[in-house]
Amino acid sequence: MRKSVTAPSLVEMKARNEKIVFVTAYDVGAARLADEAGVDAILVGDSLGNVIVGDPTTLGVSLAMMEHHIRCVRNGASRPLIVGDLPFGSYGASVEQGVESGFRLMKAGAGAVKLEGDYPEVVKALVKAGIPTMGHIGFTPQSVHKFGGFRVQGRGEGGAEQVEMALRLQDAGAFSIVLELMPSDLAQQISERLTIPTIGIGAGPGCDGQVQVWHDLLGLDPQPRKHAKRYAEVGSIIRDALTQYVEETRQGTFPTGDQSF
Ligand code: KIV
Repeated sequence: MRKSVTAPSLVEMKARNEKIVFVTAYDVGAARLADEAGVDAILVGDSLGNVIVGDPTTLGVSLAMMEHHIRCVRNGASRPLIVGDLPFGSYGASVEQGVESGFRLMKAGAGAVKLEGDYPEVVKALVKAGIPTMGHIGFTPQSVHKFGGFRVQGRGEGGAEQVEMALRLQDAGAFSIVLELMPSDLAQQISERLTIPTIGIGAGPGCDGQVQVWHDLLGLDPQPRKHAKRYAEVGSIIRDALTQYVEETRQGTFPTGDQSF
């Protein structure tokens, strides 16, 4: 039987110098494919607000939406660790709110949760409650309005602040930290200072692992992004298949006897 990936096993991977692979997924079919491809962890990201719902930000994502998509992913993946994002407004008001929200995501099928920003006290309480917790620093999309847009973080003097935040999250018990949109040399420096793994997105090759958003990776997002490599143009494949279906149905060449009873 294949051994399931856990939060502690990701920390061990860093100690062994093995790169860690995360991908986002939001439904059962995607989770199945990600598991078959051998990813270590699936992030049910609140990026679903962008790529599934079509909102310009992640701020409208609710805990109920996260629970729903975590359940979908759990039903498709058995080996990878499933990390569920705590959405905006589910942990910022108090430590108690964060722990309650964490319980909900774990009951939905997550094996760990992730939260954005400088909340070491919430991380500490979640870990005490038995919930493996991941941090997320650099550009944190839930704070897009505070940053004034989608901007690289930690340039110049801002770098020291990011290092301090990473150390605070590690000290609080986080098992890993996402580094999003930050200069590669800063991400490398943070990765070298921490004993827990860093997972980069737009943070260069010096991180202990990488995470990519499903739609960016597979060419399903109409807008190419600098931090993403499009490994396939699945959007074009789907469009071509649908176009052929439309044409054949209109011409009466589908269905044939093969599809009939
Ligand atoms: O929500 C998400 O997909 C994320 C990744 C971009 C790290 O948080």
